[in-house]
Amino acid sequence: MTLLELKSNKHKLTGEIIIPGDKSISHRSVMFGSIAHGETIVSNFLPGDDCLSTISCFRKLGVTIEEENHRLRIIGNGFEGLSEPNEILDVGNSGTTIRLLMGILAGRPFYTSIIGDHSIGKRPMTRVTDPLAKMGAIIDGRQNAKYTPISIRGGELNAINYRLPVASAQVKSSIILAGLQANGETVIEEPAETRDHTERMIRQFGAEIIKENRLIKVKGGQKLSAAAVHVPGDISSAAFFLAAGVTVSGSSIVLKNVGLNPTRTGMIEVMKRMGAELKIFEYDNGSFEPAGDIVVKTSNLKGTVIEGDIIPTLIDEIPIIALMATQADGPTIIRNAEELKVKETNRIDTVVLELQKLGAAIEATEDGMLIHGNSKLHGGSVSSHGDHRIGMMLAIAALLCDGEVALEQPEAISVSYPNFFTHLNHLLSE
Ligand code: S3P
Repeated sequence: MTLLELKSNKHKLTGEIIIPGDKSISHRSVMFGSIAHGETIVSNFLPGDDCLSTISCFRKLGVTIEEENHRLRIIGNGFEGLSEPNEILDVGNSGTTIRLLMGILAGRPFYTSIIGDHSIGKRPMTRVTDPLAKMGAIIDGRQNAKYTPISIRGGELNAINYRLPVASAQVKSSIILAGLQANGETVIEEPAETRDHTERMIRQFGAEIIKENRLIKVKGGQKLSAAAVHVPGDISSAAFFLAAGVTVSGSSIVLKNVGLNPTRTGMIEVMKRMGAELKIFEYDNGSFEPAGDIVVKTSNLKGTVIEGDIIPTLIDEIPIIALMATQADGPTIIRNAEELKVKETNRIDTVVLELQKLGAAIEATEDGMLIHGNSKLHGGSVSSHGDHRIGMMLAIAALLCDGEVALEQPEAISVSYPNFFTHLNHLLSE
């Protein structure tokens, strides 16, 4: 097992970094390029382990994908261009890959068998296999298709009207991708708005999708045409440096090329509420995904309540928000975040367990966390539990600790941010 010693130097962070490509959009660029007709060129692709798993799955489905220097060239031949794989598809650690992939395969008239890593084996798939089976796909898997390994035999699909039982962009996107292949119009109702990268990309690839408040409508049989995709930086990766910038004393940093899709910017809203000094300079880049630069400085933070409809817009940022809240004046309460229990780890338990080891006053609640604030953190031995976002949160925590932090399983970070430590060292070195 790898162990990384993180020296607590309480050194300020200064300078600028360019945030790497967005994971959610990178996955979708591979998938849409593969099911569209023609040559799709993707720039600023994120070559993290999760997105590389998506590429590997689509190559096994017969798609030509060239990847070099954050640039992809994908030759798609429509949904019909996908062919029955003669190998098992392995999604690694990636929930987005497996759930969206199943939506695509639901309409393909062949058999596919899918596995993932240990963490994927514990994540619920019924949320996707249920609606896809209702549309007509034949799906089986461990515990009645609740868990991987999963097998899917697709075919003719019928549109459905479906209310999502959880606010999940992965489930929504999976049904949309099946809906594009179904007879009739599929209507999906979301309990709360979730990231809309799939909807934006459908339009970029020349097809239609209608969004009316919480209703999404998509007609089957539409043709997707190859398109240019420029992936903006991942706000979920920028989040670690946003939090470091406001909490490590004497810091002032610039984060360049951060995706600013309003369905993803909940953390910025929460930071403003907590009193963070940050300035946003949005680009006028004409892209279908907005982006900009963010300047952030050490700030006096106060606690807040985070609950309700904002939760899906910052769901992946909660581990680092929790760390930020340990440094605020007064308590922070996070509610309605039970979805954290089914992420790469149970992120309520892992955040609380690991931050307590460093001296934070933080408690798990039924659907979130209670963070008391004003915690003086000390060194200790912690683990990412193989979860990239827990690993990065703990690496930032080390900057706030008196004493050394030893981080187990730091390699998990390469799932979404392969050059995280290079960027961190750059900001510490100026
Ligand atoms: C994602 C959606 C979210 C998020 C995940 C990526 C996506 O998951 O946590 O990291 O790309 O659609 P859920 O849809 O399960 O909430």
